[in-house]
Amino acid sequence: MTAIPSPSVPFDSADPSMRFHDIDVFEMVRKAGGIAWTEAAGGMWVVGRFDLIKRITKDERFRSSEGVRFPRADGIPKVAALEYDRPDHTAHRELMTSAIGPRTVGALQPMVRSHARRLIASLRNAEIADLGGSFAFPLPLDVIFSIVGAPADLKERVVQVAESLFLYRAPMPDGSDPVAAMREIFDGLVAEKLAKPGDDWLSGILRTRAVGGVELSDAELHGAMLAFLAGGHHSTSRGIACLLVEIVKDPGLQRRLREEPNLIPAIAEESLRLNTPLRWFARTASEDIEIGGQLIRAGDRVYLMYAAGNLDPAVFDEPLKLDPQGRKNSEHLAFGWGLHRCVGMPLAQMQLRIAVEELLAATEDICFAGEVEWSALVEPRYIPVRLVDFVPPED
Ligand code: HEM
Repeated sequence: MTAIPSPSVPFDSADPSMRFHDIDVFEMVRKAGGIAWTEAAGGMWVVGRFDLIKRITKDERFRSSEGVRFPRADGIPKVAALEYDRPDHTAHRELMTSAIGPRTVGALQPMVRSHARRLIASLRNAEIADLGGSFAFPLPLDVIFSIVGAPADLKERVVQVAESLFLYRAPMPDGSDPVAAMREIFDGLVAEKLAKPGDDWLSGILRTRAVGGVELSDAELHGAMLAFLAGGHHSTSRGIACLLVEIVKDPGLQRRLREEPNLIPAIAEESLRLNTPLRWFARTASEDIEIGGQLIRAGDRVYLMYAAGNLDPAVFDEPLKLDPQGRKNSEHLAFGWGLHRCVGMPLAQMQLRIAVEELLAATEDICFAGEVEWSALVEPRYIPVRLVDFVPPED
């Protein structure tokens, strides 16, 4: 019998309670020197030190093509770019950068602002406005649906599929299989776009239906749709929601951002560091590699705890506090690092900035009007506020 590597920590990415308690595990991993073992999902390594995480993201002997979360649900297509290694990764990533990369994202700004203004205007009659359910959560969904060219009536089902597959890893609320639901939704959408193409990302993909010059298979097409329709909203919603909570709970910070809106991006980054929306992603070692004094064997899985790296006291002073100046060391791991650094980063950053700019522009003050309700440590779903001297924006 092979000995269980030590030290060992009680981490299980499939355990729903982890959504509230991962910080305790990060602390254990840090005390263990930054890398530890867990018996979950057949056994895997957990890495929680900033420098070690960064090192692994840059070492392509650690592969993503065997999955970035374990256990992996049967039948889910590989998510474009995210679950590919080089050389295939390059072309799959290009499917997305053409629409949301740094060179193209600026053109999306008016659309993002228009969605933000419409959602803010819809709060006009609310005595208590919910900045979670009525703003932070719908905004990125509206934005990604506009980019993909998907009809609004699919939103609820797409959210259910994304949450069942990636967040709760459980059947759909009606008990059905999320993979089958995903296929049905995506095939229906593709048929619609083929019948009536538009000026949107999905119509563009279907025009060539190729990746790196080779025809896209159904699974690859679904993987690209998953990257946008599942990867493109929940993370951003969490990011916006946590940032809004930080700003509402600190009147001094809110005042400063009203006076100096050019500081919003730095505070948004600092909030992403502190409240890392996506907490961990896995890799699989392709050969024996030594990391942090541990021998990772070929085939071992390694969980990169981006959220732990972002709270590493060796890199960030008082890591559990939001620094109202932003950080001098503004490098953080909320978007990952290396080859797989988030392709949606420019779009997400723009949405966080515009969400705050528009809310502050429409109000003289925003203050809490009740208790914030959290569905995870970094997921404030209900954010009750009073919008003081509210002037609803025009679309
Ligand atoms: C605040 C919002 C977001 C956060 C915190 C976030 C976080 C991340 C992280 C940590 C990774 C690295 C995964 C890894 O190392 O394996 C990643 C990759 C990725 N993200 Fe995001 N993301 C956000 C928004 C978005 C958006 C808006 C989109 C798409 C519209 C998106 C699509 C992707 C894709 C496709 C990848 C894989 C990139 C690659 O492998 O080259 N993300 N994201």
